[in-house]
Amino acid sequence: MCYAMPGVIESIRDGHVSIGYFGQRREAITDGLDGLSVGDYVYSQNGFIIRKVPADEAHKILETWRDLFSHLKEEDSRQSEKPHLANDGSKLSRILLKAANCGALSDDELLSLMSTTADHEIELICQTANNLRHRLLDNSCCVHGILEFSNVCKQGCMYCGIRAANTNINRLRLSIDEILSAAIAATERYGFKTLVLQSGEDGHYSDDDLVEIVRRVREKCGVLLFVSVGERSPECYERMYKAGARGALLRFETSNRRIYETLHPDSNHEERIDLLRKLSRMGYLIATGSLIGLPGQSAKDIIEDIRLAKSLNAEMYTFSPLIPAPDTPLANAQRPNLNDMLKLTSVIRFIVPNSRILVTTATELLRGDARELSLRAGGNSLMLNVTPKAMRLAYELYPGKTSAISLSDQIQSTTDLLKSIGRAPTDLGRPYVA
Ligand code: 5AD
Repeated sequence: MCYAMPGVIESIRDGHVSIGYFGQRREAITDGLDGLSVGDYVYSQNGFIIRKVPADEAHKILETWRDLFSHLKEEDSRQSEKPHLANDGSKLSRILLKAANCGALSDDELLSLMSTTADHEIELICQTANNLRHRLLDNSCCVHGILEFSNVCKQGCMYCGIRAANTNINRLRLSIDEILSAAIAATERYGFKTLVLQSGEDGHYSDDDLVEIVRRVREKCGVLLFVSVGERSPECYERMYKAGARGALLRFETSNRRIYETLHPDSNHEERIDLLRKLSRMGYLIATGSLIGLPGQSAKDIIEDIRLAKSLNAEMYTFSPLIPAPDTPLANAQRPNLNDMLKLTSVIRFIVPNSRILVTTATELLRGDARELSLRAGGNSLMLNVTPKAMRLAYELYPGKTSAISLSDQIQSTTDLLKSIGRAPTDLGRPYVA
């Protein structure tokens, strides 16, 4: 299995393309790629055509997908059935029936879902969200690669293992050539079609350097590129966009300004959110969200976080449990439990039914089966770490984040899991609307 399936161009009008995948039609934009014609095979990610695929190569890949494609769909249909909601007039049944019909839930209803504690009720919430995901978005689950290139950071975020004040970690940064060869390995050897380039806020890289990194990776690898480099100037982001970056991953961390200010002494909440709005206006796909389990954070704050991500036009919802990191002021914080993260995933699905919800690495750490359960609670997106080993080990935002498991083993276990639950590691973009 690979992370994208080539599609065939069925029509093109004003840079808008309809692409066919075994009879399914999705839409994408040409994004400046010239010379495309009806009948050409292409890869598309998040609604952007990223490159053309030679016909013989496309035929070969499609052959491997032909039976698998329908088999996975059937498996997903079987495993994502609507739960049986008792017609007993109970509050939970009423809320879930409304959610299943994409009804807008009130804060009171959402809070009631978040405060559910009985296992069988949590299961009903997750099943309802999973069924909604299946009906609206089918079985595709995007698998992006994340490439960390520097753990040097000037920020002082109170929870983060790579905060500037932490002198107990090994600081490393990759050169532009090293970043490029890691990106080439991720795309050519391992088949990733979307990469996230992430670093701490490292002033060593000038705006010119970042633009150069984006330009070279885009040019050499033909992938959809997200940048995750923290608070750089709007001009820098504008230039990275022009160089080929199409997504920005930047969490606002919390919608609660008071909590934000306590935890981020060197950063301004309003400016961070304002930057996200600017990035959205520039055309970036926005991946954003918050940390769960921050001191003083309430369930109402978390609902506000989801609403804020929605108002920022998030293309990807990335919400992570706080994992206490040693040598940080929050080293003794309490980590949230998996049930809280599962309910949160479902609640995001209910508030924004057609969203792309990332199962974050930190969530996966909460329990061995957290990834599978999150995918069964409404989640539909994963990220694998494609960072070269030395950097991967040094990039410890929180303990346990770095995995000793090789990338090929990670890929194998991910594809095995996706197969077993009927998900296709493809990104088929948006359904085509004629
Ligand atoms: N636990 C979970 N997530 C963390 N991050 C930083 N430190 C931690 C932690 N201790 C997340 C922040 C940041 C992203 C790069 O890593 O949300 O945006």
